[in-house]
Amino acid sequence: MPTPVASPAPVFPEADRIPEHARVGFYDQGARYLINGRVQPLAGSCQEVLSPVCVVGKDGPTPFRLGHYPLMTSAEALAALDAACEAYGKGCGEWPTMSVHERIHHLEAFIPRMQAVRDEVVRLLMWEIGKTFGDSCKEFDRTVEYIHYTIEALKELDRTSSRFAVEQGFVAQVRRSPLGVVLCMGPYNYPLNETFTTLIPALIMGNTVVFKPPRYGVLLHAPLLQAFADSFPPGVVNTVYGRGSVVTGPLMESGRIDVLAFIGSAEVAAVLKHQHPRPNRLRCVLGLEAKNAAVILPDADLDLAVKECVLGALSYNGQRCTAIKIIFAHRSVADDFARRFAEAVGRLSVGMPWEEGVQITPLPEEKKPQWLKELVDEAVAGGARLINAGGGTIDKTLYYPAVLYPADPRTRVGQIEQFGPVTPIVPYADEPEVIQWAIASPVGQQAALFGNDPARLSRLIDPLVNQVCRVNLNSQCQRGPDKFPFTGRKDSAEGTLSVSDALRVFSIRSVVAAKSTEPNQRIIAQIVAERRSKFLSTDFIF
Ligand code: G3H
Repeated sequence: MPTPVASPAPVFPEADRIPEHARVGFYDQGARYLINGRVQPLAGSCQEVLSPVCVVGKDGPTPFRLGHYPLMTSAEALAALDAACEAYGKGCGEWPTMSVHERIHHLEAFIPRMQAVRDEVVRLLMWEIGKTFGDSCKEFDRTVEYIHYTIEALKELDRTSSRFAVEQGFVAQVRRSPLGVVLCMGPYNYPLNETFTTLIPALIMGNTVVFKPPRYGVLLHAPLLQAFADSFPPGVVNTVYGRGSVVTGPLMESGRIDVLAFIGSAEVAAVLKHQHPRPNRLRCVLGLEAKNAAVILPDADLDLAVKECVLGALSYNGQRCTAIKIIFAHRSVADDFARRFAEAVGRLSVGMPWEEGVQITPLPEEKKPQWLKELVDEAVAGGARLINAGGGTIDKTLYYPAVLYPADPRTRVGQIEQFGPVTPIVPYADEPEVIQWAIASPVGQQAALFGNDPARLSRLIDPLVNQVCRVNLNSQCQRGPDKFPFTGRKDSAEGTLSVSDALRVFSIRSVVAAKSTEPNQRIIAQIVAERRSKFLSTDFIF
């Protein structure tokens, strides 16, 4: 049984207490990579993967040795890039010139192969990044759903592109074409889903891909390598692993990456971009940092606000880019809100990812608990109190959520993205204070407003939509539904992702145009009737 935050107790299991459905051994399939259509073991050195989940042995709880993955050299990473470049063939390869219809067939063939390894991927998600069983299943299923939506959106896009336009004496057809070789790098908190929300649209639009899994969340990709190899032509999907400076530095410096799809920190994104020798050629699709604020207005329904803010701030231990990372509560309700919020946090259950009803689980980043403690200590030195029983307790890789009140927004926890289970609650007197904080923030992804007065809400909505890209009313911040645009301002994002936007960011419009003379009309009609071109075509995909 998970233990509540308010009464910390040892929660790490002995090996024989782990239920059958959650057990894993040493995963020896991790040290393989996919290059040029072949899944092969790497002969060189490997990185050991230690799970954030500790298992109790004779020396007490120690991180479980989960597996290993290849530590590639620069030359090996460049071999993956060579394969992707060759498959792209400067736009003349089989994949970029294939019809949309055929590319869809390849992706459709991938889906059942992916589903066949669901159980393995879900177990690895739990053990590698400490995500709960329910959320790990959700991440997998949401990703499969995303692929289905992507196929539907592409069919729709293709249907509208399957017509000729007649404009000012010209006849033309406009279609979207691929951009080239894409380097895809996802984050550790959604290592499958967020990698695939760039990788899948990049692929289906005819690009070839090199993808590097995040530092935590590598092994769970291994069961999918064969599915990629069996579903796509050689070189269309390739993987690299290892230290950024060794593998991604040379890839970017080669100048042969056409699109950088990166979800992670703003600092790393800036380094990667600057490594590219031809910045004007590089397209970037970035999902970076966020400091999403919740604002509790005087007339807010506090039960609802507490429920949504606990979910928003602490789902997956606050390790979501969309998490609520600071709460501004109007001073007329701030004491009441903070007390209720702290009580609700005290009722959350701490435990292992497979335990029924568990909400707080081990953190994958080794130094994270200590770093969070420093943020909390600094906030306390700045006048905040740690108001929840058990909050801030560290047990190996577990950090019991800490609630800080009244927090000063000028301290570090009020400014930077904590990406963990620490929630500062800041009392405010007047809404312009919150708007000024948002204006000064280096990031701008989302905000959540809790209140019932339409006039007061509107006074916040209008300035905030120019600071962030989504304002949530009486509900937590989140990415979904995946058909909604997901983006941010300042250091939060570059480009917009949604099922249909992603198809656009990984492609460019190309036009075939002719003066609408009779001979030209005859030529075009013949090309279409005889199905001579994949671009000039009126075929309708059902
Ligand atoms: O980490 C950022 C994710 O895209 C957030 O997605 O709001 O569905 O948890 P979510």
